[in-house]
Amino acid sequence: MNNREEAERKIAEKLAQLQQRYDKDHQDITVYLDGLYRAKYLSYWEYIKLETLLSLQSTQTEYPDEKIFVVFHQSTELYFNLILDEMNNIAGQTQISSTYLLKKLKRINRYIELVNSSFDIMINEMSNEEFMAFRSALFPSSGFQSIQYRKIEVSATDIENLIDPEVRANLAFDLSVEEAISNIYWKRGATEKATGMPSLTVRQFEAKYSSELLATAQACKDTNIWKKYEEISKAEGEVLELGEEMRRFDHNFNVQFALAHLKAAVKHLKNASSTGGTNWQKYLPPRFQKTIFFPELWSAEEVEAWGREFVYS
Ligand code: HEM
Repeated sequence: MNNREEAERKIAEKLAQLQQRYDKDHQDITVYLDGLYRAKYLSYWEYIKLETLLSLQSTQTEYPDEKIFVVFHQSTELYFNLILDEMNNIAGQTQISSTYLLKKLKRINRYIELVNSSFDIMINEMSNEEFMAFRSALFPSSGFQSIQYRKIEVSATDIENLIDPEVRANLAFDLSVEEAISNIYWKRGATEKATGMPSLTVRQFEAKYSSELLATAQACKDTNIWKKYEEISKAEGEVLELGEEMRRFDHNFNVQFALAHLKAAVKHLKNASSTGGTNWQKYLPPRFQKTIFFPELWSAEEVEAWGREFVYS
């Protein structure tokens, strides 16, 4: 068969495949072939919506460095979004295997590690003067209001693990998701010092996202990462590599992110109050917050030392 005959054979084969596909949906293939004939070639800028993307970095002030702050948050939110996609994929598996969960967790871990290492930009490449020039225009918004961050938390673990242990000890044994969410750790984080009432930052967040977050938490009750890990452990026994990847995720999100983020707060807020109104020196450090997604996977010593960098070797 010469080259021309080979090419014609391939075209005929593709056409037959297409015919089958459109027949299945009772569609007329000739209409679609005509559409293909008329369609323009795809360009890079249309494919990734470059112009729309570059129109989203509007700032609150005229200070040029504010754009770095906006882009940095936006790119982090994009990685959060990729993480949530993978968490949804995991939740959607009716019969999950250790191979599948391991592959997805590795990807999630790489995303968080990228985010964590990029905090250097906010810490080393922006001076405090540059930051202070625009920050007063940002009140009362705060990364505290990131719905995607909150969704990652409730998609990762049983919601009881997101309640401060001291608070949890005084609550009923069999909490509904709604009751658990109303006691979640961050509700206590952002209160006005003078009155003890929820700060405007929290009130804004809850007005917009309470029902959405509750719906996500309810949907994840039986499909969160911990539940999937338990399912695998029952079916396959203990898979060491998977346990390690789970620990890596827990540590990356609840310690490494928290520490990188805390360094940015220490550098830029020094003696200043935060935009979200928390007592951030007491609220943000992971050794105080002690959020642990998978406490069963850590020893008592590791839990005790949580948030001090040496814990994870
Ligand atoms: C110079 C950079 C940053 C500073 C100074 C900073 C400061 C703070 C502070 C002080 C808080 C406590 C809430 C408040 O009182 O406002 C907070 C919370 C938070 N920020 Fe940032 N932040 C920075 C960058 C980021 C970035 C890039 C993200 C990524 C989206 C982010 C996400 C968060 C999240 C998720 C919380 C809630 C943490 C928790 O509840 O444990 N922050 N931030």
